[in-house]
Amino acid sequence: MQLSLNGRAALITGGSKGLGLAIAKAFAGAGGKVAIVARNAEQLATAEAEIKVAAPGAEVLAVAADISTAAGCEAAFAKAEQAFGQVDILINNAGTSQRGPFLEVSDALWQNDLDLKLFAAIRLGRLVWPGMQARRWGRIINVLNTGAKAPPAEGAPTAVTRAAGMALTKVQANEGAKHNILVNAMLVGLIDSDQHRRRHAASKTNESYEAWLGKLGQALPMGRYGRPEEFAATALFLCSEGGGYIAGVALNVDGGRSPVV
Ligand SMILES: NC(=O)c1ccc[n+]([C@@H]2O[C@H](COP(=O)([O-])OP(=O)(O)OC[C@H]3O[C@@H](n4cnc5c(N)ncnc54)[C@H](OP(=O)(O)O)[C@@H]3O)[C@@H](O)[C@H]2O)c1
Repeated sequence: MQLSLNGRAALITGGSKGLGLAIAKAFAGAGGKVAIVARNAEQLATAEAEIKVAAPGAEVLAVAADISTAAGCEAAFAKAEQAFGQVDILINNAGTSQRGPFLEVSDALWQNDLDLKLFAAIRLGRLVWPGMQARRWGRIINVLNTGAKAPPAEGAPTAVTRAAGMALTKVQANEGAKHNILVNAMLVGLIDSDQHRRRHAASKTNESYEAWLGKLGQALPMGRYGRPEEFAATALFLCSEGGGYIAGVALNVDGGRSPVV
């Protein structure tokens, strides 16, 4: 099955690295226009060039903005809308893994996590919604993690923020369905990305990244980490016409690792 986005315009937060960049490449390769948003301008420029190599001729816009603020969300949306005329697809993907013992999570950390991973999705959702509703076509994917359904010990604040993101997804899906705005969540397990490369570097091991990740992956049900391309292919399916009757799901993309369905 050939999946196509038929020129639809996507705003992808965290599109300069890891899963967001993989989604941007997949969308651009499927005929979509992509606006990638992140804070680091240099990394954005590298990502933009990579996407253009992966999908020659694709329309790509790099936007430097901090989406943990209202102003950053507004700037990102305004630039994408100005460049493409509209935003048809929103991928709320930017995030970091913040977790630790409950008593050690400060107010500042809670707030930071909520601003980046929950309020950004709320604010950007509000910005893209009126246009999607007027055109009777929209797709929103909230990228969460499997802790949203199965919060582990020492999973705060991230698992709590992600659980709220799952509730947000369902509220948006219930309101959006009649307008053909389909909202879903993708719950990440462990997938190869820049954040794992940073962990490998911090571990100071002598092993190569591939060997290090390969060993960690042996403990997972499929004996390996997920690949960003696999994650991106799932997002592409959900945002294509093939995903046209899927709304309000929280899909584990974790190779079977989550204890709950
Ligand atoms: N990969 C996994 O195994 C895994 C597991 C569970 C959940 N997830 C979730 O999946 C999503 C993608 O993860 P990843 O592994 O691809 O992460 P990653 O490689 O660390 O990339 C994160 C992206 O988000 C951007 N970002 C971070 N803070 C931002 C901010 N305030 N404003 C704008 N952009 C910001 C980063 O760019 P800048 O730093 O330049 O801003 C980067 O583009 C995240 O929400 C993550 O929590 C991933």
